[in-house]
Amino acid sequence: MALQARNRAQKAGNLDFTVRQSPGIIGHVSCWELLRSAGKVVDGRKGIMTQTARKDWWYAVSWASEVGSSPVAVKLLGEELVIWRSEGSVFAATDRCPHRGTKLSLGKVEPSGCISCPYHGWEFDGSGSCTLVPQLDRAMPIPRGVRLDTRACTEANGLIWVCLGEPAAGIPSFPEWTQQQYRHVECEPYTWRCSPERMVENFMDFGHLGYLHDGLLGSRDDLEVPKHRVERDGNELHFELTMDVPSTRDSFQVTNVRGERGKQTNTYVISAPYTIHLRSYYHDSGASRVLYFTVQPEEDGVSTGYCFQSRDFDPAGDDRRYAAFQAMLAEQDRPVVESQIPVEIPDDLRAEIHLPFDRVAVAYRRLLGAVVGRAV
Ligand code: FES
Ligand SMILES: [Fe+2]
Repeated sequence: MALQARNRAQKAGNLDFTVRQSPGIIGHVSCWELLRSAGKVVDGRKGIMTQTARKDWWYAVSWASEVGSSPVAVKLLGEELVIWRSEGSVFAATDRCPHRGTKLSLGKVEPSGCISCPYHGWEFDGSGSCTLVPQLDRAMPIPRGVRLDTRACTEANGLIWVCLGEPAAGIPSFPEWTQQQYRHVECEPYTWRCSPERMVENFMDFGHLGYLHDGLLGSRDDLEVPKHRVERDGNELHFELTMDVPSTRDSFQVTNVRGERGKQTNTYVISAPYTIHLRSYYHDSGASRVLYFTVQPEEDGVSTGYCFQSRDFDPAGDDRRYAAFQAMLAEQDRPVVESQIPVEIPDDLRAEIHLPFDRVAVAYRRLLGAVVGRAV
């Protein structure tokens, strides 16, 4: 109903109207605003660098297991970086040699722990100091200005994290990571043409679970979203809801439900900006499955999601079936999320329709607005 009204208004040109035909819809939208948001549709395809990303936050850029004895190239907020590991520490720097702009990620990690450039062999340590210029007369010191631009880098929760500025907050917590009874599966990371906020919202969008993932995360014959409250605690949102889920045992053995359906309580913690900790508790088996999901904002309109799927049941089970389940869900979500316009979530709540079951998205947008000092 509201959508039809909105479409009519977009055609009509300059009528004001209120989109309150259904209880719970937020906002009064003038036709001018609608036209303006229609204008954003054109710009939205291009995407703008995410408005909510801050340089003083940590972002995951790679699985820890992917950074071994060779340098790795990654992208964060449009910056090309090289990551390397040496003697138990990880380092990050701009992926450009200061000599001639060569990509250092094409080079090597030397036995000394320094990274060497593939072009002329200059070497740099983790603090960015140049330790070797092989062409230079050995009696001459290396000029102090020859430095690599480094970034804060650390390993935590099975991932490599980078902060482009002075870290202002900790890395979102994943308590099960160190708990013996949990078995962790790295799911296939997925790179979508979307903003990180759209990717995060998709992960916690209850309305689509039974519809888009019919038979896997819910069913089309029961789409009503259970009641839940969202609470904010600093940079986090907390919410929980209990729902019936179909058993997927025949093909994936993921839901740990004994019968056809079972009750599952999902407890969520969202850490601004892009990390979700979701614990699913299965009432009939007493087992738990945890998803630790975080998004790397690579560049304008390109985001990569990393998801650990951790379980305290089926310890000897085939991990690939767990990863395959997540990959299948992601592939159902991808075309939908990549189609969303504008690419960024609008900074005005009135630009989209929010019904009561969308309250998590509303809270998330307000949280992001608050942490970047912008009213939403
Ligand atoms: S370009 Fe890197 S050492 Fe010359
Ligand atoms: Fe989904």
